[in-house]
Amino acid sequence: MKAGIYQMKPLFGKKEANLRKAETVISNLKCDLIALPELFSTGYSFISKAELGNYAEQIPGGNTTEFLVELACKNSCYIAAGLAEIENDDLYNTAVFIGPHGFIGKYRKLHLFYKEKFIFKAGNLPLQIFNMEGIKVSLIICFDWIYPEVCRSVALKGAHIVIHPSNLLKPWAQMAMRIRSVENRIFTMIANRVGVESRSGERLKFSGRSQISDPKGEILLSFPKAREAFACVDIDPAVANDKLFTPHNHLFNDRKPLMYDL
Ligand code: ACM
Repeated sequence: MKAGIYQMKPLFGKKEANLRKAETVISNLKCDLIALPELFSTGYSFISKAELGNYAEQIPGGNTTEFLVELACKNSCYIAAGLAEIENDDLYNTAVFIGPHGFIGKYRKLHLFYKEKFIFKAGNLPLQIFNMEGIKVSLIICFDWIYPEVCRSVALKGAHIVIHPSNLLKPWAQMAMRIRSVENRIFTMIANRVGVESRSGERLKFSGRSQISDPKGEILLSFPKAREAFACVDIDPAVANDKLFTPHNHLFNDRKPLMYDL
């Protein structure tokens, strides 16, 4: 299958323009699975709950989710993307998984980063495994990377591919996700963004370098740090079924959970 990433530069607060950018890329890329960044339709640097509330949407049912459903249907593909969600008065940093036949599910970011803690509510849904025609796909969002338990949990549930919509600022996630691939023998896909947002006296520069790593930690796709990019590569998700590090080391069966004392 062809797995792709759109390393995007969302325009802050310009939802319609951001949706059109995604539409152009997804319609041209022709891949089976495409990942977009965290908060791709709105940008990142919201300064208050009130401001974010003007942009957050119901999932499913909101405009952005419906737009992605139509896009996935038109292009016969699966799409993973991050967007702001509102449920009652609560705001979540959420990612959706959508297929050619419609909305499949969502994941709410568990580990909020920096000032996200002031405006979003931490995720309250279990880590998800989504079925993509027999391939097991899971979503994590940005700062979730720093907790190895997250990828381990979904890998133990059988995930072949972990998709990682991101708005990364610091340089370590690419290295860590490569290791997450190796230690779990899974594919990982970072869909990071680029560009700068200056709001409320703070300047955030997003770090690009989106990548796809295979279960041996090989980098199959890697983007530059400061410009938009999109591409896809052929992957065989079944490779992630093999958890033998050597013929005598099964990464999961040889774990010693009783000794870890977490
Ligand atoms: C992040 O979690 N957006 C760094």
